[in-house]
Amino acid sequence: MRIAQDSMQTIDLSLDDFFAAGGNRCCFTVPEKTNLCVKVNRVDRSPAFKKAKAPIYKRLRSLDAFDENQEEYRVLGALETFAPEAAGRLIPKCHGWVNTPFGSGLLLTLFRNADGNVSDTVEMEMVRNGVTAELKRAVALFKEEWREVAVPSRQLLLHNIVINKDKNHWRLAVIDGLGSGEALPLGKLLPSMRRRQIERRLDQFDKRLEDFNNLCAKGLAVDKGWVRQRTEPLDNAFKLKALGLDPDVAVGKW
Ligand SMILES: Nc1ncnc2c1ncn2[C@@H]1O[C@H](COP(=O)(O)OP(=O)(O)OP(=O)(O)O)[C@@H](O)[C@H]1O
Ligand SMILES: [Mg+2]
Repeated sequence: MRIAQDSMQTIDLSLDDFFAAGGNRCCFTVPEKTNLCVKVNRVDRSPAFKKAKAPIYKRLRSLDAFDENQEEYRVLGALETFAPEAAGRLIPKCHGWVNTPFGSGLLLTLFRNADGNVSDTVEMEMVRNGVTAELKRAVALFKEEWREVAVPSRQLLLHNIVINKDKNHWRLAVIDGLGSGEALPLGKLLPSMRRRQIERRLDQFDKRLEDFNNLCAKGLAVDKGWVRQRTEPLDNAFKLKALGLDPDVAVGKW
């Protein structure tokens, strides 16, 4: 669903608020709202760009089908009624659309640790510290809770799960890749299908943890460029490219 631009709240963001990026979106902290973030689509991976690169049969889909923010808005809205106890705890709560200097963005829960730092992903944690006893405990707790709330998801990827480091214990939250990977819409999944899907996703998650732990133990994890990019601080050149801004014009302005 498209939202009328002028009815939206405006949030003034700068390049310094840009704290992380994925393959599709740029993530910003929100001035004076420590528990919120804004995600805007990457201009260098825009829905139009992705549609143009897609196989012909997929190009028949609407532009929104290639828009991660539109998809997340739809899925998180459905999950608020489907698994309300998960929102803001195991998955982000969606606070709707906002205008930003970098295009329209989605306002979402930002997970932070007790010390105020933005929570790292499981991937970042493993590259730095491997699988510690605390991480193992957090994974076991997450699996119990995930089964209980039974949130449908696509693959549970290590860079889409963050670790909320509380004083006494760590808790995991899934920040991306939610919703049914199946052809059926969320509400149409039978409880038995939902349970089977959860178990399959959790088994695949375990396997992914084990494989990535082996790579980390061999010191090979960051050899893959995309892992390096996700686990190291972003430089300004990357941020400007992702936002589609000309460095010569943009530096100083933002
Ligand atoms: N709610 C959040 N709390 C803490 N960190 C977050 C949050 N959302 C995103 N991040 C950080 O920003 C990164 C990119 O976010 P996100 O996964 O939403 O982008 P994306 O482009 O949709 O990713 P993908 O490449 O998986 O499609 C995450 O890997 C994580 O490091
Ligand atoms: Mg992601």
